[in-house]
Amino acid sequence: MWRGVVLPSIFTVSLFIFGAIGQYEWQPKDAFDEVKRQMDKVNKYNCEIRHIGELYLSNNTISHLPDIKDVNINPVFPNRTQLLHLHNIALSRAFFWSYILQSRFIRPAINDTYDPGMMYYFLSTVADVSTNMHINASAIYFSPNTSYSPSYRGFFNKTFPRFAPRTYRLDDFNDPIHLERISTLNTFTVHDLGAVPVDTSSDYASDYYRINEWYKKWLPDEVDKRHDTKTTYQVEIRYANNTNETFTFHGPPGADENEGPVRWTRPYFDCGRSNRWLVAAVVPIADIYPRHTGYRHIEYPTYTAASVVEMDFERIDINQCPKSMGNNGENVFVDTARCKKETTECEPIHGWGFRRGGYQCRCRPGYRLPFHIRRPYLGEILERATEEQYYNGFDCLKIGWVQKMPVQWEKAPPYIRNPYLDQHREYLNSTVGPDTLKQPRINIHRSLDFILGMNHEKCRDYKPEDLILHGGVMHGAEEYFENEAKMALRLANFISAFLQVSDPKEVFSGKRVSDKPLTEDQMIGETLAIVMGDSRVWSAGTYWDRNKFTNRTLFAPYAYKTELNTRKFKMEDLARLNKSDEVYLNKPWFRFLKQRWASNFDNLEKFNMKIKIRFNETGESTIKYEHYPNYYSGAKLSDGLWTAPFYDCYGKVPMWKVKYVAPFFGWDSLKAKLEFKGVVAVTMDMTKLDINQCPDKYWVSNVFKGTDKCDQKSSYCVPILGRGFEAGGYKCECKQGFEYPFEDLITYYDGQLVESEFSNLVDNNETRYDMFKCRIAGASGLQGNFIAILLLVIAVINVSRLC
Ligand SMILES: *[C@@H]1O[C@H](CO)[C@@H](O)[C@H](O)[C@H]1NC(C)=O
Ligand SMILES: *[C@@H]1O[C@H](CO)[C@@H](O)[C@H](O)[C@H]1NC(C)=O
Ligand SMILES: *[C@@H]1O[C@H](CO)[C@@H](O)[C@H](O)[C@H]1NC(C)=O
Ligand SMILES: *[C@@H]1O[C@H](CO)[C@@H](O)[C@H](O)[C@H]1NC(C)=O
Ligand SMILES: *[C@@H]1O[C@H](CO)[C@@H](O)[C@H](O)[C@H]1NC(C)=O
Ligand SMILES: *[C@@H]1O[C@H](CO)[C@@H](O)[C@H](O)[C@H]1NC(C)=O
Ligand SMILES: *[C@@H]1O[C@H](CO)[C@@H](O)[C@H](O)[C@H]1NC(C)=O
Ligand SMILES: *[C@@H]1O[C@H](CO)[C@@H](O)[C@H](O)[C@H]1NC(C)=O
Ligand SMILES: *[C@@H]1O[C@H](CO)[C@@H](O)[C@H](O)[C@H]1NC(C)=O
Ligand SMILES: *[C@@H]1O[C@H](CO)[C@@H](O)[C@H](O)[C@H]1NC(C)=O
Ligand SMILES: *[C@@H]1O[C@H](CO)[C@@H](O)[C@H](O)[C@H]1NC(C)=O
Ligand SMILES: *[C@@H]1O[C@H](CO)[C@@H](O)[C@H](O)[C@H]1NC(C)=O
Repeated sequence: MWRGVVLPSIFTVSLFIFGAIGQYEWQPKDAFDEVKRQMDKVNKYNCEIRHIGELYLSNNTISHLPDIKDVNINPVFPNRTQLLHLHNIALSRAFFWSYILQSRFIRPAINDTYDPGMMYYFLSTVADVSTNMHINASAIYFSPNTSYSPSYRGFFNKTFPRFAPRTYRLDDFNDPIHLERISTLNTFTVHDLGAVPVDTSSDYASDYYRINEWYKKWLPDEVDKRHDTKTTYQVEIRYANNTNETFTFHGPPGADENEGPVRWTRPYFDCGRSNRWLVAAVVPIADIYPRHTGYRHIEYPTYTAASVVEMDFERIDINQCPKSMGNNGENVFVDTARCKKETTECEPIHGWGFRRGGYQCRCRPGYRLPFHIRRPYLGEILERATEEQYYNGFDCLKIGWVQKMPVQWEKAPPYIRNPYLDQHREYLNSTVGPDTLKQPRINIHRSLDFILGMNHEKCRDYKPEDLILHGGVMHGAEEYFENEAKMALRLANFISAFLQVSDPKEVFSGKRVSDKPLTEDQMIGETLAIVMGDSRVWSAGTYWDRNKFTNRTLFAPYAYKTELNTRKFKMEDLARLNKSDEVYLNKPWFRFLKQRWASNFDNLEKFNMKIKIRFNETGESTIKYEHYPNYYSGAKLSDGLWTAPFYDCYGKVPMWKVKYVAPFFGWDSLKAKLEFKGVVAVTMDMTKLDINQCPDKYWVSNVFKGTDKCDQKSSYCVPILGRGFEAGGYKCECKQGFEYPFEDLITYYDGQLVESEFSNLVDNNETRYDMFKCRIAGASGLQGNFIAILLLVIAVINVSRLC
């Protein structure tokens, strides 16, 4: 009986004595446990009554936030591509809304609001979330009394008190709308968060709202008589009727300005909404205000809204390694990796999110892995190891005898040089020009001479087919330009959603009116926003099929920039070019997608939406939209098309380009079935890709595969990210059982060095290519191994006896 009392109390007392502990008892508690504890403390039942400080994590829980000033200069690592996409989507939306809100100055409409209707806002946020798995929510929050809307009759020159369309992804595992009983990630809740009683705790603009840091980052914007404080952007538009117009509009701060356009929030608990820990990128939307005064001089540009795009904090990679070159910013998780520092060093690996173990432990220079280990120690395995395993394993062995790099080297004698040249016959008698890429074995140096030596004058000397490369040249583009492809897909899916969900002829009860059909300015703005929001996109176009856009036979707004880092953009309606050899309808990618989607739409993805709109124009409460739930069908990333890389010789900006094209769909004239309506295309600079020279599976289409010069017996090739479109983007790591013999700060042979020494060998200059080999491991010193010698002696004796 007494045991039942005493034992638990002893247990509690000992807990107090030993304090809180880490993941396992024997591990000390670290920053990760601390953050995890903070996150677990708050849940959807208690978040309302928690102290406000507990609803936020500190800002150093997310390190390496993408910085727009850096994006074009330094490589973006895979561990940050999702955050970069979040950044780009928020930015692109801000540009679009700034453009479209001010486009009323292009075509002043009398007694009417030229702004998009409510459904446009809703579906735009749906498209942001639906095209990217990693984006969990997207919203636009307006400042009080700044959002005009054409969605209510007699609403001219009136504003909504609050307006905030927001979409977030729902876990639809148990939703009756589909029977599969699995999470499809394709169901979205769409709410107007502005439909709340103002100045209460549910009003996002009020001080009572506890987690509205995203709102306070930029809004409300107090412009104090200093007009024109907002950055302007310029678009030169050339319409189909060949008239030109230059439109200047105010937008978010430029990338070159001191703060930049994007502000990030700390991670916060999305209390009462999705009840998850989220991180948001916030970009302001500019407009000219006040409207409709009749006096232009009292109007001034101001931020009237903010575009807020959010993702799960748990999906953002953390870096547990100690402070080093690539990890020197603020980071609470610094040095929580469990690598054994004496003999190994830590290297982050991506895709782990907020979890322990997103790293691997490589051997330090001068150390090598034990024989029975093949690859560096994985962090995850280290973290799960028991105390005994941990203290007895995960070490590297010292390399007993290290060589110095020779200071002077000499020409390779023929008996060394010839075998190498035999191995790489493509260097013996190399072709030049476009034919280099058609050889059975590629000479990467000559191929790159051809590709990188192309310019807008030389290209005219080549046949058009020479300027279209083999698809294998852009190996890795699908991954590298995935974010850019998703920008095109977002617009395609938005158009699909709008054409399928919004019916201009629909009549609602009360004063509400349905959205008008898409306008030319909206399409121009959307296309432009892709180019403005993502610096890797050089041009974007929305190409409508014949007679599919309201009142137009052909319509194809095409936006491009002529230089990087600019505030001047160009826009052209390609419908102007309507001769049969230049019209976009005859382009192979357009024809291909049109044929592919001529009749069968079963493969399209179905996106479900649960839309709740405001009860009436003043808001205060929400009601379900008339069609609840509803859905639209749109393309997936794989339904689009990557074209082969080509040199755009006669185009606006000549360069090697890759293009991604995504289709969009609407109802046919009977509203009976879907039909293909057109495509959205983006083009990127091919030479921004990394070349992967390492060997790969036979079915991988990569013309440069296997062109590395690693010594195949003792080392293997590992690609290095961020080296660009040049030879040498790899390293030769020693194979299992081999060791790096030199005294050096690294433990591998750098590909750039290997390639340049190989070129020296080919040119018969001084070279040390011959030395880039790993040595059989095990020479722990110069003394012989007693047992080995004994065995050898016995063997020799045996053999001599037999003879
Ligand atoms: C994080 O917050 C602290 C104070 O709260 C501030 O000094 C610091 O600059 C912030 N860091 C970043 C990266 O925003
Ligand atoms: C616009 O509205 C004003 C007053 O509401 C009216 O006087 C004017 O005639 C209207 N103009 C047009 C073109 O409808
Ligand atoms: C956010 O998206 C991820 C997929 O990327 C998903 O696993 C997660 O459940 C989503 N979060 C919410 C709140 O829906
Ligand atoms: C918004 O408009 C309402 C009604 O006109 C007014 O009562 C309120 O003070 C205004 N709010 C702001 C922040 O201007
Ligand atoms: C040319 O087209 C634009 C947009 O469609 C229109 O605004 C403009 O008035 C047209 N110009 C002429 C001269 O027809
Ligand atoms: C519009 O600009 C283009 C060049 O940008 C020029 O070729 C064209 O003639 C211009 N159109 C008019 C009507 O001025
Ligand atoms: C629009 O509203 C503002 C403020 O409510 C008012 O000053 C202005 O005269 C109105 N304009 C028109 C054209 O009714
Ligand atoms: C992302 O990867 C790069 C390169 O490996 C590294 O320098 C950086 O620290 C990593 N960041 C995080 C947060 O893991
Ligand atoms: C080099 O190429 C030319 C033409 O392709 C051929 O005639 C010649 O025999 C080749 N030389 C060697 C050494 O392969
Ligand atoms: C299309 O043209 C008709 C007739 O000219 C016009 O009444 C209608 O408003 C136009 N629609 C749009 C969206 O411009
Ligand atoms: C909107 O609905 C609320 C609540 O029913 C009501 O108090 C308000 O007067 C309505 N506003 C308008 C403009 O009808
Ligand atoms: C080899 O030497 C020659 C003459 O010094 C030089 O022109 C050539 O560029 C060198 N080759 C390499 C690959 O450095």
